[in-house]
Amino acid sequence: KRIAVLASGRGSNFQAIIDAISAGTLRAECVRLITDNPGAYAITRAEGAGVPVTVLDYRSYATKGAYEADLLAAMKDCRADLFVLAGYMRIIGEAITDAFAGKMINIHPALLPAFAGLHAQRQAIEYGVKVAGCTVHFVDGGMDSGPIILQVCVPVLEGDDEDSLAERILVEEHRALPAAAALFCEGRVFVEGRRVRILPPGD
Ligand code: GRF
Repeated sequence: KRIAVLASGRGSNFQAIIDAISAGTLRAECVRLITDNPGAYAITRAEGAGVPVTVLDYRSYATKGAYEADLLAAMKDCRADLFVLAGYMRIIGEAITDAFAGKMINIHPALLPAFAGLHAQRQAIEYGVKVAGCTVHFVDGGMDSGPIILQVCVPVLEGDDEDSLAERILVEEHRALPAAAALFCEGRVFVEGRRVRILPPGD
């Protein structure tokens, strides 16, 4: 299966995808990294892994619409079976979420529907929850709102701040995102309305 990744920054979740492919736990090929940020460290990671890169410098576009037109074209060119948003920090417009409905997933560092949006780990600390975590979900027209594929719980410990919690959640993100991508590539993920069914391993 062909996977394309969208990332905006450090790219550690992108790296987790690459590493899972190398380890054979994710039976796929990463055909492209697309980024909105020419300074993204994810680009360095792509180069190290021999993954082709498309940079669409968001700041060079006069309008969001012009950016999204190029993004849609770049995504279509990938001929990917699955698009993975791995620390991609922009809301994706409906033209794109409609075009790739059911084949675009995102990792969010909270147990959705709690703490959608930015600084999810900070939201969790400030709310005072005792259990945080991460969510892999299909991307729909909303923000962090599509059908949920996997969730992993992470305890909030005494003395945690948003950075220590984010670090602990990130470890689980790096497991959950490749795992969800692998299930999808194995054809074991089925969406029924809001609910997602994970089928047992095939024979
Ligand atoms: C991750 O915590 C991800 O859940 C959130 O932003 C962070 C991106 O980290 N969307 P990285 O770029 O994958 O290292």
